Amino acid sequence: MAEQKVIAVVGATGAQGGGLARAILNDRQGEFAVRAITRDVDSDKARELAALGAEVVAADVDDAQSLEAALRGAHGAYFVTFFWAHFSPDKEQAQVRAMARAAKAAGVKHAIWSTLEDTRQWVPLSDSRMPTLMGRYKVPHFDAKGESNAFFTEEGVPTTFLLTSFYWDNLIQFGMGPKRDADGRLALNLPMGSAKLAGIAAEDIGRCAYGIFRKGGPAIGRTVGIAGDHLTGAEMAAALASALGETVRYNAVPFDVYRGLGFPGAEDLGNMFQFYAEFEDYFCGARDLAVSRSLNPELQSFATWLARNASRIPAA
Ligand SMILES: NC(=O)c1ccc[n+]([C@@H]2O[C@H](COP(=O)([O-])OP(=O)(O)OC[C@H]3O[C@@H](n4cnc5c(N)ncnc54)[C@H](OP(=O)(O)O)[C@@H]3O)[C@@H](O)[C@H]2O)c1
Repeated sequence: MAEQKVIAVVGATGAQGGGLARAILNDRQGEFAVRAITRDVDSDKARELAALGAEVVAADVDDAQSLEAALRGAHGAYFVTFFWAHFSPDKEQAQVRAMARAAKAAGVKHAIWSTLEDTRQWVPLSDSRMPTLMGRYKVPHFDAKGESNAFFTEEGVPTTFLLTSFYWDNLIQFGMGPKRDADGRLALNLPMGSAKLAGIAAEDIGRCAYGIFRKGGPAIGRTVGIAGDHLTGAEMAAALASALGETVRYNAVPFDVYRGLGFPGAEDLGNMFQFYAEFEDYFCGARDLAVSRSLNPELQSFATWLARNASRIPAA
């Protein structure tokens, strides 16, 4: 077998990077090997990856030298940021700039940058349908990523821009699962009106990224959007009902009510859902299911994901 080409994975102990690392490691005869980047090589998750056959290296994206060293000799690199760890678009952008610079310095031949739309191209700051946040954003955790695409282009890094979707795992880990009403009935509370939400199993993001690395050259310079299903809130509630074996009602929360919920990031997420809902055709159109499945033949639909994960949803 020819020597395997190394893919360095930022966030390898997390959701997106973990999916990619496992996809590569599961394909033992494949053309790639994994270099898992973590701040703590002794964590349980880092040890698990090492046991599966990954090379595990320590680096912090806030430390440019460590990052560049971790990328040296790698053919490819997967870049993801950690907005919800700090809630700062400035910090997120500084980290993306550091990743683009390190990729250039290390001579990475194919980078995948896990990005999202700069929503201000659809909803300029002057548009009062949703509030402007932090002085210059509509959806900070989207806009900062979209604006950062330019760092890769400016550095001349051969990059695929990966547009991800809403993780269904948010129903388990992010408190977005159905909740019981006062009368004990389950309701899925989502500010999506009657629009379709492009969603995906977090694990499938990494599997699609693996498909992009396998594609190689033809994917460079392209923007690729991925999703596992496009479903309305009512359709998601019906699928949840069938998986949980009890009635689940869909409650279309008004955008303003969601923005006012008061938890950290509520305004950012309220604006995000309004963007999803009001630009549904664009947003779902940019995340084609057939393209996603061609990259990842095991792509899960919402029903498939629920069959495996419904019991992990807290209200269940
Ligand atoms: N939730 C959604 O629906 C959704 C949808 C689309 C996009 N996103 C975006 O996805 C991103 C998060 O990705 P994820 O869900 O894969 O994250 P995650 O599961 O929280 O994992 C992030 C990993 O990154 C590593 N990390 C954190 N800070 C680091 C640093 N300074 N240097 C090096 N590594 C660091 C951590 O590993 P160690 O502790 O091992 O270092 C952690 O395991 C966010 O930017 C979010 O906006 C989320």
